[in-house]
Amino acid sequence: MKKKGFIVRNAGFTDAAAIFALIKRNPKELVPRSPSDIVQNIDRFLVCDYRGKVAGAVSWAILPEIGRAAHPTVEIKSLAVDKTFRKKGLGRMLVEAAIERVKVLQPEQIIVLTFTPDFFRKFGFVEISKVTIMHKLYSGCINCTKYDSPFTCPEVAMSLSMR
Ligand SMILES: CC(C)(COP(=O)(O)OP(=O)(O)OC[C@H]1O[C@@H](n2cnc3c(N)ncnc32)[C@H](O)[C@@H]1OP(=O)(O)O)[C@@H](O)C(=O)NCCC(=O)NCCS
Repeated sequence: MKKKGFIVRNAGFTDAAAIFALIKRNPKELVPRSPSDIVQNIDRFLVCDYRGKVAGAVSWAILPEIGRAAHPTVEIKSLAVDKTFRKKGLGRMLVEAAIERVKVLQPEQIIVLTFTPDFFRKFGFVEISKVTIMHKLYSGCINCTKYDSPFTCPEVAMSLSMR
């Protein structure tokens, strides 16, 4: 995927430090991730490369299920575009590429928790009740130190149906 010198590609270990710094520069919108978490999940990251530099990144995670994959759900997370490069279509490139990559897994839905629902609506995501993603709340939000409950957290839960 190309746009005026910007290329979305699979991330590699050498991108991990730049991804860490990018996530860290967006503390209001993004859940912090440690360098080792990024390294261990580097195969679940795409980066937008501009002349060898990381202009943006996105990752995904598979939500847990008990037993067989009855309702496989993938979460898109850690999406960020460097401030210098915003409003040029890179966020769109990253989300579209992440959806294409995740589609291969044949999930029932892709979800996102976001402060920018209007951005994700452009890709077909619709708002859902947080009670429908209790597995996300128990596996992720339960450890949140920002808000006392996911139900008072202002992040909007959204889903893109893949069926
Ligand atoms: C949200 C973010 C990734 C958007 O990246 P971007 O490269 O500026 O987005 P694009 O230029 O690809 O925009 C694609 C479309 O979304 C729109 N858009 C961009 N940012 C938006 C926002 N904050 N709210 C609503 N729409 C937005 C653009 O106008 C564009 O619309 P169009 O295609 O109809 O012209 C970027 O602002 C960012 O990194 N924010 C901080 C981290 C963050 O909020 N991440 C999401 C957490 S889930």
